[in-house]
Amino acid sequence: MTTKYKSVPLLSSEVTQKKDYLSRRDFLKQAGIVTAGAALLAACGTPADETPATSVPQNLSPAQEASSLSEELTAQESVLTYNNYYEFTTDKERVAKLAENFQSSPWTVEVSGLVNNPQNFSIEDILGNFNIEERIYRMRCVEAWSMVIPWNGFALSELIKAVDPTPEAKYIRFETLADPDQMPGLSNGLYPWPYQEGLRLDEALNDLTILSTGLYGEELASQNGAPIRLVVPWKYGFKSIKSIVKIELTSEQPSTFWEDIAPNEYGFFANVNPEIDHPRWSQASERRIGELKRRETLPFNGYAGEVAHLYEGMDPAKLF
Ligand code: MTE
Repeated sequence: MTTKYKSVPLLSSEVTQKKDYLSRRDFLKQAGIVTAGAALLAACGTPADETPATSVPQNLSPAQEASSLSEELTAQESVLTYNNYYEFTTDKERVAKLAENFQSSPWTVEVSGLVNNPQNFSIEDILGNFNIEERIYRMRCVEAWSMVIPWNGFALSELIKAVDPTPEAKYIRFETLADPDQMPGLSNGLYPWPYQEGLRLDEALNDLTILSTGLYGEELASQNGAPIRLVVPWKYGFKSIKSIVKIELTSEQPSTFWEDIAPNEYGFFANVNPEIDHPRWSQASERRIGELKRRETLPFNGYAGEVAHLYEGMDPAKLF
């Protein structure tokens, strides 16, 4: 992965004003896709004087609590223009332009492997059948920059339940579209296309793990992985595979794109850990896009309470 940290200067005029975002949220609420997790953002993500405490919903699930951050959202403009999507280019600031005409409709996600009920889901099936809600998560790239993104999506566990895994299923594998006519980066023969990723089944079933179909209340843009991508907030961003066409339940640990390329630098687990440095740089701190001062990186990207139990008894050195 490139180690070049290009700084992204942000003018205050570029930062999305919270009032604009909140009015978009009101619109979404009318459309019925804002849930308790989103309501919490209004409570925790804005100064106390803007939001009455009475709007804090009670009885939140751990995922809803985790997705309510008191940190500033990253400007929508930055989320849309500073991207890693190597199928298009390795230049973060050119992805959006090169992905402009990407055809993400019609789209089918094949879900197969060790399941009793394999299915091909169209995006329309997905939007119609799963409970799309808003989750505000930190995203920490392995390159030591980070963002806070309001995703729209649904728990991956819902989709897994719909296909009914057999008892032999222990892992889940994801694959991105690889269409050389649309993705100029595929001609870069250095990489083992298609991009593929994987999770252990218990990680995939954790309530924090979502499939995202949108962000900032809008459809997912091509550069962010339209029409559907994975989001696993306690792992480095490379696990959050974009534009998924295939999901497979397996008994063996699947190979993954970055582990294939450099197994000593990018492991299968890729849990955010400030104490385990990348061989070529420190992971102790990060550059939050839009901020000047570096922040300390948190274990499991701040989600230890929700996920640390998944790794009890495992050697942390093997969880990078
Ligand atoms: N998925 C695919 N198919 N191709 C990629 O190059 N890059 C990963 C991840 N998913 C990548 C991918 C990396 S390194 C990061 S940090 C995130 O996508 C970036 O997501 P974003 O551009 O939406 O912020």
